[in-house]
Amino acid sequence: MSTNNREKFSTSLAIFFATLGSALGLGNIWKFPYLTGKFGGGAFLLIYSLSIFLIGIPVMLSEFYIGRKTKKNPIGAFEHLRPNTAWSVIGYMGVISSYLVIFFYTDVAGWVYSYFFKSLMGSFNNVSKAALQRQFDTTIIGPLSPLFWKATVLLVVSLILILGVQKGIEKITKTLLPLFFILIIITAIRSLSLPNSNKGVAFLFTVNFKSLGSIGILTALGLAFFKLSLGMGSMITYSGYFTDNNNMLNTAFHVALSDTIVSVLAGLAIFPAVFAFNIEPSAGPGLLFITIPLVFSQIPFGNFLLIGFFFLSCIVATTAMISMVEVLVVLFKEKLGTSRTTSVLLNSLIIFCIGSLATLSAHPHGLLGGFLVFGKSFFDLFDYFSSNILLPLGGLLTIIFVGYIINRENFIEELSNNKKLKNTSYLRFIFFVLKYISPILLIIVFLNSLGLLKF
Ligand code: PHE
Repeated sequence: MSTNNREKFSTSLAIFFATLGSALGLGNIWKFPYLTGKFGGGAFLLIYSLSIFLIGIPVMLSEFYIGRKTKKNPIGAFEHLRPNTAWSVIGYMGVISSYLVIFFYTDVAGWVYSYFFKSLMGSFNNVSKAALQRQFDTTIIGPLSPLFWKATVLLVVSLILILGVQKGIEKITKTLLPLFFILIIITAIRSLSLPNSNKGVAFLFTVNFKSLGSIGILTALGLAFFKLSLGMGSMITYSGYFTDNNNMLNTAFHVALSDTIVSVLAGLAIFPAVFAFNIEPSAGPGLLFITIPLVFSQIPFGNFLLIGFFFLSCIVATTAMISMVEVLVVLFKEKLGTSRTTSVLLNSLIIFCIGSLATLSAHPHGLLGGFLVFGKSFFDLFDYFSSNILLPLGGLLTIIFVGYIINRENFIEELSNNKKLKNTSYLRFIFFVLKYISPILLIIVFLNSLGLLKF
């Protein structure tokens, strides 16, 4: 298929916001707080941040290299760079990960959509902690309402994708992401003003490795991949839309930094409230949905802020999903030759049908909640297998590919825009980290989680 008629993001600012739109999402406000709560706080935050900067950024730059150089879907990109070799397996793994992630991500997005709707209806006025727990349980047990919200989410995502990359993605991200940032700061300030909030701050920043364990370390690493949308082709696909004069090194740093700041802010919005309202930090996936309504209860304009919070959460979840489904849409277009609209609709159908296995098993009392594979529900299995195994493994193979197959000069040439940017010394350093440090760290975490290496 020809790729010459591809659209492009129009400016470097648009590139930054679109890429950030992929990175920001339920990972920051839902996954990061509940995993940090589960694995004991500061130590998890530390390993997560180290993973972002020592492994995430090198992987992101490798994906940018592959994407902008080839301007193809993830499978086609590897086939283009090394035809008839096994390297395209990385692309196939990425596609499988995209499906697994989107299968359950659309559910959590559906919960957020439904909470936006409920906040509009005023359902959270003066509601108690116990009532919020019950609301969360009924929201996810369903079965009809979570399926309805999943379908709604897919409808919204499909419509935006049919409009196309530039019009759809650029407009939404450029206007609404800054608003999200402001609102999360307001939420954190409100949460920090609650009694006992210092305990939440201490929880988030005190490093204690006791409750982390090898699975905690692997999970923190997996979260870093999930957060930066790495290891599944989203960044390969998006960087295919980057302009040739964009400074991709800056884009990677700015996106990783902004995204990590938002995660920490989300932690500051949630953990002080967790301690103020006596909630267990390890309460699990419901943490966001129980704490945030409590944070805004009993303050002037509280319900108004709550509506804003869930509305903007819907937006960031949606822009993240767009970058996931876009991978599959481009793949269908380029590999099967289907039109953009058909590719979008076919994928939405697949995601709805197979993804409903996740919907129906998200709660132990759900229709398929008791059905376990490898000791996990479908919902947990899709999440665990993608985040903790496939994404980091895909990332490892990607940096090995760029570090050992694509040589340093090619990497530096592409990322310095043929030496027009004066950033070659930084790039040399990053290539060194990418080739020697990040893969070793990744392998150590894998071996540790398999119990083959203890520290
Ligand atoms: N980064 C997104 C988030 O944190 C999720 C995502 C994963 C998006 C993989 C695209 C690809 O919510």
